[in-house]
Amino acid sequence: METVVSGIRPTGNLHLGNYFGAVRNFIKMQHDANCYFFVADYHSLTTHPHPDNLNATVKQVLAENLACGLDPEICTLYVQSDLPETAELYLLLNMLAYTGELERSVSFKEKIRKDPDNVNAGLLTYPVLMAADILIHKAAKVPVGKDQEQHLEYTRNYVNRFNYLYGVEYFQEPFAYNFGGQLVKVPGLDGSGKMGKSEAEGNAIFLIDEPEVIKKKVMRAVTDSGPTHMNQPKEVAIENLFTLLKLVSTTETVAHFETLYNNCTIRYGDMKKQLADDINIFIAPIREKIKAIAADEKYINKVVKMGAEKARQSGRKTLAEVRNIIGIRSFF
Ligand code: TYM
Repeated sequence: METVVSGIRPTGNLHLGNYFGAVRNFIKMQHDANCYFFVADYHSLTTHPHPDNLNATVKQVLAENLACGLDPEICTLYVQSDLPETAELYLLLNMLAYTGELERSVSFKEKIRKDPDNVNAGLLTYPVLMAADILIHKAAKVPVGKDQEQHLEYTRNYVNRFNYLYGVEYFQEPFAYNFGGQLVKVPGLDGSGKMGKSEAEGNAIFLIDEPEVIKKKVMRAVTDSGPTHMNQPKEVAIENLFTLLKLVSTTETVAHFETLYNNCTIRYGDMKKQLADDINIFIAPIREKIKAIAADEKYINKVVKMGAEKARQSGRKTLAEVRNIIGIRSFF
């Protein structure tokens, strides 16, 4: 059976981008592969979360993943820091990671642009830690959104360097994966870029958002003054609204608004109202489950313990083999 690994940073609540880019894949793949999904708390330290909040955010993200349909009896759901073997593999892989290559990473450049006062080495080596997450279970597929694609390229580089340096065929090249084919980039509501928790206020729709909040955010989404001639190409902001509509609405609804757009009779207010309603229909059952699971501390603790045990079994084995290949041998 193929091994699958993926993670989500606990830096806020899950949004529709996380769901359609990653979690939807987790739910599907858990039945057909040997899956390891984790909450990437080590990764979230790059932005220094307050110690009083970290544990609660990890718990919330666990509850949200479970509410979406992850079954901890089928897949392994764990907290990244419960598998410290990841940190040792990260150290070992750092010896194969070139700083020039890391400095050219799109996400690193974006992060230093957004927060020039916090350019720490953890940010620079972020892709190496991701590679450790993936290789600690020797994964073949990594379900992620489009924004993570380059990180997978880096992981493949480390795989090839490791195998070449030690003359082994130990690691295999893992690939970013989406069951629909293309990797997904869910747009935000601010008319540009992607949906993300660190983007502008109102850009992301969270899985816990109540109907009024969803409506408010969607109604405020950026639009233009409307098409002025038949079959006019869409502005980015309008294309984004259609992309969201395609994710949550029926094909009839999408076709209806496409027709109205193409014959210049569309009223964006009507389309947004429909989009808000359909997002709410999609989210409502997940939202209720999140509330129930988040309140059940005992259940979450049980899941995390079970996940840590399963993840350690796999992680310890890989790390022992890697140490042996590298030549790290115990004297006692
Ligand atoms: P993170 O926490 O930023 O996002 C979690 C997952 O959600 C996807 N995603 C999106 N997909 C489509 N459209 C969007 N607007 C959107 N926003 C987020 C991300 O692509 C991701 O799959 N570095 C990772 C976490 C991580 C990881 C790993 C992933 C740590 N180690 C090992 C895979 C394998 C991250 O920051 O994801």
